[in-house]
Amino acid sequence: MTETPQRRSIFPRLSRLMLIVEVLHAVAVARYLYFHVLRRGTKVADQSHESVAANTVMHNMKGVRRSIRRVGRSAVLIRPLSIIPRLQRRVPDAKVLSIGPRSEAELLCLASHGFRLRNVTGVDLLSYSPRIDIGDMHALQYADDSFDVVIASRVLGYSDAPEIACAEMLRVTRHDGYIAINTGDLQPDSATNQNLDYKPGSDQVYSSLAAILDLFGDHVGHVHFSNDPSVETGKQRGPILVIFRVTKNQTGAN
Ligand SMILES: C[S@@+](CC[C@H](N)C(=O)[O-])C[C@H]1O[C@@H](n2cnc3c(N)ncnc32)[C@H](O)[C@@H]1O
Repeated sequence: MTETPQRRSIFPRLSRLMLIVEVLHAVAVARYLYFHVLRRGTKVADQSHESVAANTVMHNMKGVRRSIRRVGRSAVLIRPLSIIPRLQRRVPDAKVLSIGPRSEAELLCLASHGFRLRNVTGVDLLSYSPRIDIGDMHALQYADDSFDVVIASRVLGYSDAPEIACAEMLRVTRHDGYIAINTGDLQPDSATNQNLDYKPGSDQVYSSLAAILDLFGDHVGHVHFSNDPSVETGKQRGPILVIFRVTKNQTGAN
C-alpha cells in the first residue's frame, strides 16, 4: 500500500455521517433514483462466464432497490475489516474491490468506515452506478495485485465454480492484502428459495469455515475475523464470515 500525503479534505469527515444508517440510505436512494430512474443508466453484462449460476442476473435485478435498505448485511463484514490493526492506519489509502455490491450502499458503507470512496471499486454483473464496473468474478478485468482489500459479500452462492472465483480474488489481491467473504444464506434449502418458482443460486453448499478457506489453499495467512455457525449449532445455519490476510510467494505468483 503506497503512503500518500494527507490532503485537507472534508469529505472523509462528511462520509462518517453515513455511519448514521438513515443518512447512508438517503444518499444511496438519491443516487439510485438519479442514475437508475432519471438517467436510465442500468447496464447488464452482455456475456457472462459459464460458471455463473442460472437466474443470477434476473434474481438480483429484482433486488437492487431493496439491497440499499439491507446495508447491514455488508456492514457485518466491513466493521471488523476497518479495525484490523495492520490495516487500520492505512484504511484511507487502501484500494478496495467490492465484488457483487448490487447497489452503491456497500460502497458507501466502506466510505463511512474510513475507506476513501475514490479508492473503492465495485464490480457486478449489473450496474446503474458509475462506481460499479460491469464484470464477472470468474474473469475479473483487473491486473494482478491491484487491490489491498477484496470483499465478496453474499456473492459466492451465485457461482457454480467457486474455485475459479476465489482464484480470481487471489490474483487481484496483492501480497499481504485482505480478502473478506460472507457466504450469505443462499443455500439450496433456504427459505428464500422456497418462496420462489425458480432457483436463484447454485447448488453449492458452504458447510464450514474450513471449506471456505480450502478454496484459497495455502494463500491463507492470518485469519483476523471469522464466524462459523456450524461450530455453535453443528449445522450450517446462517452466513459464514471470514477475513484473512493473503500470502503470495515473493514473485507475486499465485
Ligand atoms: C445478494 S447480492 C449481494 C449484495 C451485497 N454484497 C450484500 O452483501 O448484501 C449478490 C450480488 O452479486 C452479484 N453477482 C452474482 N454473480 C456475480 C458474478 N459472477 N460476478 C459479479 N457479480 C456477481 C449479483 O448481481 C448481486 O448484485
